[in-house]
Amino acid sequence: MKNKSLVSINDLSKEEILRVLDTAEDFEKNPRQPVLNGKVVATLFFEPSTRTRLSFESAINQLGGRVIGFSEAANTSVSKGESLKDTIMTVANYSDLIVMRHPIEGSARYASEVSKVPIINAGDGANQHPTQTLLDMFSIRKTQGTLDNLKIVMVGDLKYGRTVHSLLMAMSAFNASFVFIAPKELQMPQEYKLFLKEKGLKFEEYTELAENIKDADIVYMTRVQRERFSDPMEYEKVKNVYVLQNYMLDETKPNMKVLHPLPRVNEIHENVDGNPKAYYFTQALNGVYTRMAIMSLILGLK
Ligand code: CP
Repeated sequence: MKNKSLVSINDLSKEEILRVLDTAEDFEKNPRQPVLNGKVVATLFFEPSTRTRLSFESAINQLGGRVIGFSEAANTSVSKGESLKDTIMTVANYSDLIVMRHPIEGSARYASEVSKVPIINAGDGANQHPTQTLLDMFSIRKTQGTLDNLKIVMVGDLKYGRTVHSLLMAMSAFNASFVFIAPKELQMPQEYKLFLKEKGLKFEEYTELAENIKDADIVYMTRVQRERFSDPMEYEKVKNVYVLQNYMLDETKPNMKVLHPLPRVNEIHENVDGNPKAYYFTQALNGVYTRMAIMSLILGLK
């Protein structure tokens, strides 16, 4: 991983993924290690974010590094028409590493091709969100004790949800089986189903929630993403199609955990939050340790 960009989860081998998770475990035990002393990390967020940007920035601060960047492009020269290439080439002069979120699919790959410092993709449109995938895998291994042979139920916006696309690809290396629960407008795209078929991995598809989570190890809820719809009426039709309620967890496996990349809107009722199977806020905390690991390994400091 040293000096390499992280654009897609497919940039990492199975061994590299496990190395990130092991390193994150080390940071969880001891988060105040000054390994980023003297380093400057740029966080360039062309799209809104709470967890990804702030967990990166918390990780950088805890490891002794410095942060520069922006949380909205409107305050930068992008608003005067500056291109992504020129922005990246400029910021690469000011930093050792760039973390970027951008609405256009493929923008992170493009940035990695023009940048002299590594790029970490913090989400590019509906395409990939690899650091979310790594923190999801950290959370899955921590709660299940293994990544192997698990049943993962993915619920909600499986069409535009970059987190489910990345997680599916990564968990395919660990013999996972999948259940996809989505309205017909938001089903898992064909390319990902073909990918699973080629790997010989099982998946099932349903439209009902409660009856199809009973033998899950992980229920991965997602938000219907208003910002990806060109027609607001289409969003209105599907926005509240699934709401996970506390009673629905009664007959699920004792060690099952509910994950959600967050933010949530209505898809997990607040009555689930106190259930021991609700893991999404700890999952967000795990993002700090995982991002500490990713930055340290890319900068060759671990
Ligand atoms: N999970 C996630 O990407 O959250 P933010 O949009 O708040 O960064």
